[in-house]
Amino acid sequence: MDTLVQLENVTKRYDSGVAPAVDDVSLAVEAGEAVAVMGPSGSGKSTLLNLIAGMDRPTSGAVRVGDERVDMLSETAVARFRRREVGMIFQFFNLLDDMTVMDNVLLPAQLAGTRAGAARARAGELLTALRIEHRRDAYPARLSGGERQRVAIARALINKPAVLLADEPTGAVDSATGDEIGALLLQLNAGGQTLILVTHNPDLAARYAHRVIEIADGRVASDRVLAAGGRLPASPLPPDRTLAAGSRPAVPPDGALQ
Ligand SMILES: Nc1ncnc2c1ncn2[C@@H]1O[C@H](COP(=O)(O)OP(=O)(O)O)[C@@H](O)[C@H]1O
Ligand SMILES: [Mg+2]
Repeated sequence: MDTLVQLENVTKRYDSGVAPAVDDVSLAVEAGEAVAVMGPSGSGKSTLLNLIAGMDRPTSGAVRVGDERVDMLSETAVARFRRREVGMIFQFFNLLDDMTVMDNVLLPAQLAGTRAGAARARAGELLTALRIEHRRDAYPARLSGGERQRVAIARALINKPAVLLADEPTGAVDSATGDEIGALLLQLNAGGQTLILVTHNPDLAARYAHRVIEIADGRVASDRVLAAGGRLPASPLPPDRTLAAGSRPAVPPDGALQ
């Protein structure tokens, strides 16, 4: 397998005199993996994601995503990298409240210079696959938490990122909605999307990832592959069974989310 994300001795220190937020972390994530990152509040999980996303620069060490040395990119190049190679979703969705669902999803494509027609077509496909197309003209304030997160997922995927980073994406929704979001992320991964998921929820980690990295005090405390969790069976369930009973499939069999 190809290594997609690689951290080598990465340290992030915000303030001298206090312990680093990320402390000499080395790890590699292969293309196609679904990795859960767990650990107590303040242990450095978000900082780790931000370093991978190029939102933040390490104090020392190397961050590679694909062929890029993310920590060495110029401001312009890192902005371009973030738009094209990274999709991020967050606990509180981070949608723009004064833009419609459709315009929220289109924004990263516009920033990346995608042709308007192609961007609209892909946004429409994603919204349909995520079962939120009927809300395309709504404003985020009108949507439930689960709907907002599905819009955020569509926005994260519009530029076909190499890696999807999810920072506690189910932290602000009820558990049934959390399960649905987890199942969507797992389906995306089954279609080949590399996924790094920060979660406080051990059940979510066990069900929707196949590897769990525990972080404590900015360091990797454990890194283990789950025996049974996280992977769809080799022969996928029929489409009408891929989500919770009674709901329609989030991703059509032709993989429109890829
Ligand atoms: N922008 C920042 N400036 C200063 N300290 C920060 C900043 N972001 C995070 N920290 C500190 O770094 C540590 C790790 O934070 P964070 O990565 O947010 O942890 P987690 O996501 O696991 O809760 C904490 O001690 C936090 O206070
Ligand atoms: Mg955090």
